Amino acid sequence: MNEIAIRTEQLTRRFGALTAVDSVDLRVNAGQFFGFLGPNGAGKSTTIKMLTGLLAPSSGRMELLGLDFQRDPIEVKRQIGVVPEGMGLFERLTGSEYLHFVGRMYGLDRATTEKRTAELLEFMQLADRQKTLIADYSHGIAEETGAGRGGDSRASDSFFGRTF
Ligand SMILES: Nc1ncnc2c1ncn2[C@@H]1O[C@H](COP(=O)(O)OP(=O)(O)OP(=O)(O)O)[C@@H](O)[C@H]1O
Ligand SMILES: [Mg+2]
Repeated sequence: MNEIAIRTEQLTRRFGALTAVDSVDLRVNAGQFFGFLGPNGAGKSTTIKMLTGLLAPSSGRMELLGLDFQRDPIEVKRQIGVVPEGMGLFERLTGSEYLHFVGRMYGLDRATTEKRTAELLEFMQLADRQKTLIADYSHGIAEETGAGRGGDSRASDSFFGRTF
């Protein structure tokens, strides 16, 4: 694994006259939990949106796991997991169905998806609630399922929203 997981250089995002993210130089090592704190409106979510490919930077560079985001966006997205603030879970699926869906979307084969889903459900102590819809999960369990999604696939990097 590349030693530096996230590196940004002069990362900037403007919305009209407002500079929401101003020339951020970030360096996060692989294997590190990195908390990104700041007051409301400081530009945290905007930065995470750029790092996860949801928003294009106005200028600057981003490198994830040694890959240039602008040059190789699909490969970067294959390598990262995201747990957004709003979760965005499909509530009419069970946790098992949802994790299967995510695994297949990430391009894992069926057997690996089965194995990872079973491991994650076991880890989250949901193995005996396979038929329960996410809509009927408690808030905390839904969050864990979202975290499971972030850790699903081959994701080496996970971005966590504020709930964790
Ligand atoms: N799509 C957008 N269009 C215009 N302005 C935006 C947009 N997204 C964010 N902003 C502005 O950019 C600034 C940074 O917002 P951002 O959501 O990144 O802050 P934050 O640090 O995540 O704040 P919070 O702690 O409240 O979540 C704010 O002034 C916000 O109003
Ligand atoms: Mg925010």
